[in-house]
Amino acid sequence: MSQIIVKGGNALSGSVRVQGAKNSALPILAATLLNRGETVLKGCPRLRDVDASVRILRHLGCEARWEEDTLTVNTAGMNCCNISDALMREMRSSAIFLGAVLARCGQADLSYPGGCELGPRPIDLHLAGLRELGADIREDGGRLRCSAPRLVGRKVVLSLPSVGATENLMLAACGGSGVTSIYNAAQEPEIVDLQDYLCACGAKVSGAGTSTVTVEGGAQLFGCTYTVMPDRIAAATYLCAAAAAGGEVRLTGAKEGHLSTVTAALREAGCTVAADEEGITLRRRRALRGIRPIHTAPYPGFPTDAQAVLMAALARSRGATVFEENIFTNRFRHVDELSRMGADIRVSGRVAVVNGVERLHGASVQSTDLRGGAALCVAALAAEGESAVSGVEHIDRGYEDLAKTLAELGADVRRDEGNSEE
Ligand code: EPZ
Repeated sequence: MSQIIVKGGNALSGSVRVQGAKNSALPILAATLLNRGETVLKGCPRLRDVDASVRILRHLGCEARWEEDTLTVNTAGMNCCNISDALMREMRSSAIFLGAVLARCGQADLSYPGGCELGPRPIDLHLAGLRELGADIREDGGRLRCSAPRLVGRKVVLSLPSVGATENLMLAACGGSGVTSIYNAAQEPEIVDLQDYLCACGAKVSGAGTSTVTVEGGAQLFGCTYTVMPDRIAAATYLCAAAAAGGEVRLTGAKEGHLSTVTAALREAGCTVAADEEGITLRRRRALRGIRPIHTAPYPGFPTDAQAVLMAALARSRGATVFEENIFTNRFRHVDELSRMGADIRVSGRVAVVNGVERLHGASVQSTDLRGGAALCVAALAAEGESAVSGVEHIDRGYEDLAKTLAELGADVRRDEGNSEE
């Protein structure tokens, strides 16, 4: 069982380049199915979730090969439109393949994606929207048997700005005839990145980043070369790590516009944060202080994916901070583990109250999910003594090599692969 071993106390210093965005690469990899050519995806992060997507693409008959951080996908050989239960369960966001397979093949057979640690992950909005576009979707014992010989452009209104539903509908609409308008669409930067990739392939998509995305379907798409946007949540993670440990860190490639609610919170907590065209620099000299309540919300609100790592940084601070988690029902699982390190955090429903403490101490802790695991590493940087963070497989879903990156910034961190028999 691999672990990340952290000896707290080192201030961080230095500069790292931010990895490509997981939550942009994943929908773009699904979108490669919309053309029969070759996509050269540069800056693609090497993550467990990306590996799972590559396995799905290969299962569907596509070719995919890595050259450093460039992933080249050729979908000409696609010869299958069903995705096995095992493959679907490997990655929560595999539902994103539904719209693309329907658009490409006119049919799809896949299972409900696995739930995850964050709580139930329904896809009712995805299915309702695809049915609006003309898909016939039958739910049969956990399998989704879908047929869409003709997808037709429609006005679709999402009852909530679901990122995945917005992306699925964008992809399906590219394969439909006529114009699709998606109202109450998610506005995340990753939606804009998907739009930019689709347009680079010859699609007619506009409005991403606003609440209405419009797709003029039916265009013949072709392969292209595209560079994935920087990962704003990885950037938020390393900024919170620097805030927790103290020191000065520069993140090249990070775009402050993608995480301004996070940098604003870190400034309010007492950090100096400077941003320019090339990246973001954070400096923390004095003790962190509690800040005004954090309410997670769809973009441009405070990102739910940064909630855990900011909480970990503020666990050792002067004052209290209230967090309200409004996106997922079970996204405070890192709290119990932070408490084992001496954090004083009280949870009631969707609200967690962090009473900052002066000291944290090292402990053996268990990652419960992707961002919760990263949060434990952030807190361990500020703790006295050694921490052992297990469940690294969760962290590897979203971070190329968290331990190595923190060590490059001066943290006393190493990855212990442990005894493989365990
Ligand atoms: C995406 O998940 C991200 N994943 C998540 O990042 C992120 O936390 C989330 O968006 C919110 O920003 C990827 O992009 C791969 P949603 P997604 O659909 O698309 C409910 C990470 O850490 N909902 O916007 O699944 C849902 O239950 C991951 O990188 C429905 O009820 O998020 C949730 O409460 C975690 N019905 C809320 O909406 C639906 O059909 C937001 O979900 C769809 C969603």
